[in-house]
Amino acid sequence: MTLDSAFRTTEEHDLLRETVRALADDKIAPRAGEIDETGEFPWDVHQALVQSDLHAPHIPESYGGAGADALATVIVIEEVARACASSSLIPAVNKLGTVPLLLSGSEELKAKYLTPVAAGEGMFSYGLSEPEAGSDAAAMRTRAVRDGDHYVLNGVKRWITNAGVSRFYTVMAVTDPDQGARGISAFVVEEGDEGFSVGALEKKLGIKGSPTRELYFDDCRIPADRMIGAEGTGFKTALATLDHTRVTIAAQALGIAQGALDHATGYVKERKQFGRPIADFQGLQFMLADMAMKLAAARQLTYAAAARSERAMNGAADPELTFMSSAAKCFASDTAMEVTTDAVQLLGGYGYTRDFPLERMMRDAKITQIYEGTNQIQRVVMARQLLK
Ligand code: CAA
Repeated sequence: MTLDSAFRTTEEHDLLRETVRALADDKIAPRAGEIDETGEFPWDVHQALVQSDLHAPHIPESYGGAGADALATVIVIEEVARACASSSLIPAVNKLGTVPLLLSGSEELKAKYLTPVAAGEGMFSYGLSEPEAGSDAAAMRTRAVRDGDHYVLNGVKRWITNAGVSRFYTVMAVTDPDQGARGISAFVVEEGDEGFSVGALEKKLGIKGSPTRELYFDDCRIPADRMIGAEGTGFKTALATLDHTRVTIAAQALGIAQGALDHATGYVKERKQFGRPIADFQGLQFMLADMAMKLAAARQLTYAAAARSERAMNGAADPELTFMSSAAKCFASDTAMEVTTDAVQLLGGYGYTRDFPLERMMRDAKITQIYEGTNQIQRVVMARQLLK
């Protein structure tokens, strides 16, 4: 193998990174502290992302989207997360909510729902988890019962990212309780559907600018043609979706870690103790080297998983995608937790205060080890792939 044939991003990917970084430095980073303090959804950031077609970049051009490939989408999420993790959930959750449609939806459903998302007229959330069905997602109880040309939904979804600010929701519900995972179907529910409402804001450790709420279905009646794919295929669609979107959580983790590393590196060059910059001390140099090394490894794993996700989206069967996307999510999020914790340490007392962004980054990093499947579940998924 020559060096020239080694894996690398294309010029378009590199240019995209520069564009997103410039936007993030200009419009998102200056707002990140305030977004965290107030816990309000950043509609101004949403608007800025929409204007640059970065709010849901993965949507194909045929539906009015930017048609970004999976790696380009990772780069967008990574660069937004480097400035503000909450804001990075705009492109990430739009992808999570719409991949079920892209994988399994009819042409009519795709045209109806992907077009407004691409135009920035509505975001899309994903409803799988429930109060009693977190890691064991197939244990869900939300029911969808056919009634003529409609389904009637009853139940509760929990931990729904961007609930209340999204206009559309992919909701998994049980259509045949005797069939277990094969008795679950996926539906599109719209804001304003009768019998559909959202709960109070969860009070969280981090990603405070991205609302997390419950979804309530109280005899919620939706047209039967809102079912995504065939009846009974919803659980497979939900898990196949996560094969693609766990890569976006890895991207978020990379961005948070990079933001922390960049800040800490700048700080140690300026901060003087014992008559010289603390960057001169080898103990700190070794910490920085370890942080950068782990981040580089996480990035390579994430980009490799993104490349597989892109090929699979285009129809190439890839038995290793499930392993790779879990591995990328698990490794990158563990790395983000380590890197942000060490970055706080490098700033000492300052790192522990809200005068610097490191403590926010450390709080934001924590969720990447939990959502879209805890890192313990990622290890279950990886081990199952190895042993089957
Ligand atoms: N793609 C497609 N189909 C898949 C699949 C995949 N990756 N993995 C499994 N399946 C299929 C299986 O083949 C099986 O189908 P058949 O019966 O027809 O063979 C069916 O799905 C059930 O599979 P399992 O028996 O393996 O399912 P399980 O109940 O044992 O659970 C699990 C598997 C991996 C633990 C799964 O429940 C899981 O991933 N749990 C974690 C849930 C999760 O990630 N939740 C995150 C919610 S999203 C979120 O956090 C959102 C947010 O807002 C950011």
